[in-house]
Amino acid sequence: MARKDFICGNWKMNATHLEAIQMVQKLSYRLDLADYDRVEVVVAPPFTALRSVQTVIEADHLPIGLAAQDTHWLDEGAFTGEVSPVMLAKLSVGHVIVGHSERREHFGEDDATINRKLKAVMAAEMTPILCLGETLEEREAEQMESKVGGQLAAGLNGLSPDEAVGVIVAYEPIWAIGTGHTATPDQAGDACEFLRNSFGDAFGGSMSEHVRIIYGGSVNPGNIAALMAKKHIDGALVGGVSLDPDQFASTIRYWV
Ligand code: PGA
Repeated sequence: MARKDFICGNWKMNATHLEAIQMVQKLSYRLDLADYDRVEVVVAPPFTALRSVQTVIEADHLPIGLAAQDTHWLDEGAFTGEVSPVMLAKLSVGHVIVGHSERREHFGEDDATINRKLKAVMAAEMTPILCLGETLEEREAEQMESKVGGQLAAGLNGLSPDEAVGVIVAYEPIWAIGTGHTATPDQAGDACEFLRNSFGDAFGGSMSEHVRIIYGGSVNPGNIAALMAKKHIDGALVGGVSLDPDQFASTIRYWV
């Protein structure tokens, strides 16, 4: 099974549902997605826009997948303000981002919580996108490997090899997110190779050939080709640039 490249636009806390409808329509106009069989294209709008974006995708038969940016780990209950995996799956959400550094930093999510969420996403038959990455201090102290290796092991804790291979791993160095300072292709490629080797140590070398490992952090139309030239990078998680359909489409056009 060859690894199919994957690109996801993470809109974060941007776009009302009306703006989100326009964004996904513009994106589809800019792309003749029928030709994009080398890459899976996904967008992750805020919760309030999921239903609207899903309706546009379904009505127009767009080959664009829908992702959520987070989830609770239980199906239902007294958790004011939360959204469950079952609710997301019912909206045709196919992927859920778990453990984004902004959730870890601003909302105190720890590895155990992220592991619970990841398993709940899989139980609801969706694909988790597990985010991990080191701070600038950690990179300078040569702790990148211990940090992301630990996050990978904790995030995938308790999964069988068959389950783990279905997770998409997103290497997102915190110092590169929203800063305009992309990791160099070598830095990103080396980290993704390290993660693939770690995955292989935990789940078997043949499994590690199949797991998709993507890069995120200031990806744009100008750097996508150099990043994707790296053997161990299977796609991108795109924040800021994905808010502009023209720029996001230009980034995706790398795959044509
Ligand atoms: P950025 O965000 O592309 O704006 O750096 C990436 C992310 O947070 O996934």
